[in-house]
Amino acid sequence: MQIAALFVSLLAASVVSAKDDNSTGTSVKSQCRTIAKMQNLVDLAANQTKLENKADGNTTKIDEVKSKAADASTQLTSMTANATLMGECAVIQAHQDSVQACGDIQKIEKMMAIAANDTKLNNKLDNNATKIDEFKAKASDMAAKLTDLQSNGTLTTFCAAQRDVENCESMKGLQKLIAKASNQTALDAKFEGNTTKAEKFKAKAAEAQTKLDALMSNSTLMATCSSLSQTQTQQGSTNNTSDSSNNSPAIRFQPAGQMAITGLVVAIGALFMI
Ligand SMILES: *[C@@H]1O[C@H](CO)[C@@H](O)[C@H](O)[C@H]1NC(C)=O
Ligand SMILES: *[C@@H]1O[C@H](CO)[C@@H](O)[C@H](O)[C@H]1NC(C)=O
Ligand SMILES: *[C@@H]1O[C@H](CO)[C@@H](O)[C@H](O)[C@H]1NC(C)=O
Ligand SMILES: *[C@@H]1O[C@H](CO)[C@@H](O)[C@H](O)[C@H]1NC(C)=O
Ligand SMILES: *[C@@H]1O[C@H](CO)[C@@H](O)[C@H](O)[C@H]1NC(C)=O
Ligand SMILES: *[C@@H]1O[C@H](CO)[C@@H](O)[C@H](O)[C@H]1NC(C)=O
Ligand SMILES: *[C@@H]1O[C@H](CO)[C@@H](O)[C@H](O)[C@H]1NC(C)=O
Ligand SMILES: *[C@@H]1O[C@H](CO)[C@@H](O)[C@H](O)[C@H]1NC(C)=O
Ligand SMILES: *[C@@H]1O[C@H](CO)[C@@H](O)[C@H](O)[C@H]1NC(C)=O
Ligand SMILES: *[C@@H]1O[C@H](CO)[C@@H](O)[C@H](O)[C@H]1NC(C)=O
Ligand SMILES: *[C@@H]1O[C@H](CO)[C@@H](O)[C@H](O)[C@H]1NC(C)=O
Ligand SMILES: *[C@@H]1O[C@H](CO)[C@@H](O)[C@H](O)[C@H]1NC(C)=O
Repeated sequence: MQIAALFVSLLAASVVSAKDDNSTGTSVKSQCRTIAKMQNLVDLAANQTKLENKADGNTTKIDEVKSKAADASTQLTSMTANATLMGECAVIQAHQDSVQACGDIQKIEKMMAIAANDTKLNNKLDNNATKIDEFKAKASDMAAKLTDLQSNGTLTTFCAAQRDVENCESMKGLQKLIAKASNQTALDAKFEGNTTKAEKFKAKAAEAQTKLDALMSNSTLMATCSSLSQTQTQQGSTNNTSDSSNNSPAIRFQPAGQMAITGLVVAIGALFMI
């Protein structure tokens, strides 16, 4: 698998994402959100049954929705006429769907693990047999969905890459925290001499160290992180992108949580080519 190529495209996409990330309402992301909202409104207004249900038969409300939908439809038409924008929205949507699917896989796996372990079941559900049976039934219903999701190689590759990126990012955070805990100046500044708070923070740093050690003992992951940061450095040194204020790799390479929206998006594109 061309993991390096994957990350290159991922970073390239992050550039777009970071430059684009502005709350002025004109970013591609927010334009896509606007389109989706307006589309929902127009669809609702066109479905009398749904509309009446939603408005509880209140004709004032129904007329309001219809009038808003009529207003929106002009803007919607002009926005959806932009093929570039619509293409970008499709990519963003596909990415969001994939992230959601990765989350589903994790959730269901966790659920199955609980359902298969009586100790965990009893702990979680307070030894309540009714609740336990319900939970087991639900888990069994989800099993088919899990099999389905896991059989999609594109998706599982995407989820693994996403997890790698998240782990690489989290290592940076852990290292920072650990460094701070052993820096008396920083501790004094942060806790204003409150040793109780400082000790608590040090305990947290010790936990972070354990986590970090576990991650760093994985040489596969370390190799991935290293190629990832090399790619970042290369990208960071090209001083030729339009807006230099947003140009530091740290900003461009957003942490996974919110990131990726546009970031991993193109990764999906790359995944299809692997
Ligand atoms: C983000 O928004 C602010 C405030 O509207 C604006 O001044 C700034 O130029 C924008 N930045 C980018 C990168 O678009
Ligand atoms: C209208 O909404 C109802 C209820 O939500 C749905 O069952 C029906 O399929 C919709 N009709 C159309 C044409 O979309
Ligand atoms: C119908 O909706 C309007 C606007 O939302 C509201 O002001 C009014 O009280 C509603 N009428 C009834 C009968 O609920
Ligand atoms: C279409 O959308 C793209 C991406 O948001 C934008 O850069 C471009 O200016 C838009 N084109 C028109 C004609 O509005
Ligand atoms: C597999 O997952 C990818 C990425 O989430 C998705 O685009 C594709 O539709 C899925 N394929 C199937 C057969 O579900
Ligand atoms: C079941 O869960 C308990 C508590 O989380 C754990 O200690 C135990 O090892 C698990 N048993 C199996 C068979 O996984
Ligand atoms: C067990 O859970 C069920 C369903 O939530 C509830 O109705 C019942 O009261 C619970 N039983 C006990 C002993 O708590
Ligand atoms: C310790 O923290 C201070 C204040 O945050 C910082 O200026 C200093 O460079 C740090 N020292 C080390 C060795 O990292
Ligand atoms: C230190 O912080 C703890 C809470 O974390 C607080 O209870 C205590 O009063 C603080 N001590 C001083 C000297 O401010
Ligand atoms: C090490 O990391 C790779 C991903 O980079 C992962 O596939 C593998 O399961 C990890 N190994 C262990 C022992 O956690
Ligand atoms: C910026 O680009 C120019 C021309 O390619 C190059 O000579 C210069 O070293 C670059 N500066 C940095 C900081 O990368
Ligand atoms: C910046 O990029 C443009 C177009 O990609 C290129 O023509 C130009 O030579 C580049 N300038 C520098 C300083 O790298």
